[in-house]
Amino acid sequence: MGCNVKFLKEVKIKKDRTILELAKDCKLKIKAPCKGKGKCGKCIVKVLNGKVSKASKAEKKILSEEKIKKGYRLACEARIKDNVTIILKD
Ligand code: FES
Repeated sequence: MGCNVKFLKEVKIKKDRTILELAKDCKLKIKAPCKGKGKCGKCIVKVLNGKVSKASKAEKKILSEEKIKKGYRLACEARIKDNVTIILKD
């Protein structure tokens, strides 16, 4: 029987980078078929806490208001503004 494991890794970064850029720097994989252009909607992550940029037009087009309120964001659009905790999907 399998089980799930979560690893948490903390990194220091310069603010105002996108989650996708940061993930690439950290060698973490996030699906991004549109190469970060905010069109495919495959780079969804969940911001658990902390401060990121307001939802962009692209995010509002792809994600429902309810999902955005729950912390779901496009990694290629959301920019890190302060300490954050982010969950990446498989
Ligand atoms: S990489 Fe396609 S929407 Fe973010």
